[in-house]
Amino acid sequence: MKYADRIKRMKASELREMLRLLHKPGMISFGGGMPSPDSFPVSTIKRLSNKVLNEHGPDALQYCSTEGYYKLREEIVKKSRKDGIKCDVENVIVTSGSQQVLDLTAKIFLNPNDYVFLESPTYLGALIAFNCYQPKYIGIPMDEEGMITEKLEKSLKGIKRRKMDFVYTVPTFQNPTGVTMSNERRKHLLEIADEHDLFILEDDAYSDLRYSGKPVRSIKSMDKNNRVIYTHTFSKTLAPGFRLGYVIADIERIKKICIAKQAADLCTNSYVQYIAYEYIREGLIEKQLKKIKKMYKKKMDVMLKSIEKHFPKGCEWTTPQGGMYVWVTLPSKIDTRELFDDSVKNNVLFVHGSVFRPDGKGHNTMRLNFTNQIERKIEIGIKRLGNIIEKRVK
Ligand SMILES: Cc1ncc(COP(=O)(O)O)c(C=O)c1O
Repeated sequence: MKYADRIKRMKASELREMLRLLHKPGMISFGGGMPSPDSFPVSTIKRLSNKVLNEHGPDALQYCSTEGYYKLREEIVKKSRKDGIKCDVENVIVTSGSQQVLDLTAKIFLNPNDYVFLESPTYLGALIAFNCYQPKYIGIPMDEEGMITEKLEKSLKGIKRRKMDFVYTVPTFQNPTGVTMSNERRKHLLEIADEHDLFILEDDAYSDLRYSGKPVRSIKSMDKNNRVIYTHTFSKTLAPGFRLGYVIADIERIKKICIAKQAADLCTNSYVQYIAYEYIREGLIEKQLKKIKKMYKKKMDVMLKSIEKHFPKGCEWTTPQGGMYVWVTLPSKIDTRELFDDSVKNNVLFVHGSVFRPDGKGHNTMRLNFTNQIERKIEIGIKRLGNIIEKRVK
């Protein structure tokens, strides 16, 4: 079969493939980045769905503007201003998840062979979205303070810049490592963007899920020179099935994103936007956040304690202050791909770390999600995984 060149790098995500194993009876999955099904406010959504249909039925079932439902955009502005982001309704577009923002940004700004600088490892879904636009990736190493911005600076000096290069970052409770970029690094990143005339795509999917430590400011909230395109999502706090996210940027970029979105889907699901608006208007999002943060903190603590207890000497792991993932580095002689079959046989799923790196390195790393399992199963699953690793180490 013949396909367009841009499809050459389009491969089925290993994560999606892996999700098929989820249905194996007795499987304990630390694989997909899914919220807990117990977190979804089903009965409230049922009540609000009825309310929306009763009070706004025809409008909620109609196309809405490409930018999104105005009242929801007003609520997004209120939240964002509270978080220090200067914006007006005109700076906001409601999107079909934040995944759509990654796709549209790449579509608008990347020509083939332009560079995307990103954390290594990074969010796999971003690589999948960007791949269609045929960029070159420059992975920037991370430490416990996030992307090592000095290394970004060095890489920038070592290459012949292309027209539209940008930096993609998940600075808070990063997927896949759970690491948060320090304030100093955030400032440094903005300085680098100014100096090298780059823009930054800030993917802030997880910042609302903080379980300990002090909040950090988003990069967008420190952005004085319109360097940042910012995206956030309702998927991790309300319901991923809503497919609701948003983008905040300067008006010029927003106009272009709007045109690209029009081509992609005309508008985001109107009905769901009305429901989300009612949910926020009734002050329920704060209550929901309080509930899920308590729930996820317990799960994370159980996972970290179980790793400590059951993983053999020589393993290292991150201790995040929020988000949904723990990142584990095993002794370098172990390849997590080779553990995988054994792990599936023992009914435990994880994601091997190399899929999160454009260069395919990181053979001895893995990502563990803790939000989608009950605590008892987290303990059992980690114990099984610990045994499998121990056998290999020996
Ligand atoms: C870092 C990051 N960005 C974006 C997304 C996409 O989220 P959504 O499209 O559901 O808003 C995810 C989902 O896991 C993610 O982890």
